[in-house]
Amino acid sequence: MQTIYSHNPAHTRELGRKLGALLRPGDLLCLQGDLGAGKTTLTQGLAEGWGSRDAVSSPTFVMVNQYRAADDTPLYHMDAYRIESLPEAEQLGLDDMLAVGALILEWPERIEPILPQERLWLTLSHQGENERQITLRASGARPHKLLNDLSLA
Ligand SMILES: Nc1ncnc2c1ncn2[C@@H]1O[C@H](COP(=O)(O)OP(=O)(O)OP(=O)(O)O)[C@@H](O)[C@H]1O
Ligand SMILES: [Mg+2]
Repeated sequence: MQTIYSHNPAHTRELGRKLGALLRPGDLLCLQGDLGAGKTTLTQGLAEGWGSRDAVSSPTFVMVNQYRAADDTPLYHMDAYRIESLPEAEQLGLDDMLAVGALILEWPERIEPILPQERLWLTLSHQGENERQITLRASGARPHKLLNDLSLA
């Protein structure tokens, strides 16, 4: 596990850029955190690091956004906030997305039972007006490598 303290939104985006540059298809990134914790702010950096120029927005209402890298590889951005049941969650086609792209999931705790075990789980929490604690927990070989590479980046 790693813990990072972010002092402002730009700092959170910078972390996202570094991590986004390391992502590749098959990677699952779970972003847990309360309203305003910085999940979407972090995702703006992730999309930039991924190499996408697409605008990042909160997918709360459409549930899945896609940001395309220069070579068209998609970074999916999903929000599980409105998922009502696990059967509904099973219909999302996470595996299909992970087969072609990387996936960022907000409110992952709502569908935790159906998530792949291999994932990098980030928890963002408020420490003050502009202060956020971000913890990163890897499970599986690939997520551990991501975390190692990130600490060198
Ligand atoms: N260190 C920080 N990191 C990220 N955001 C910060 C930080 N300090 C202040 N903020 C502000 O907190 C807000 C974070 O909003 P953001 O939309 O990223 O949160 P969210 O976790 O996606 O919330 P929601 O669940 O409502 O979508 C922004 O207004 C941002 O400017
Ligand atoms: Mg958001």
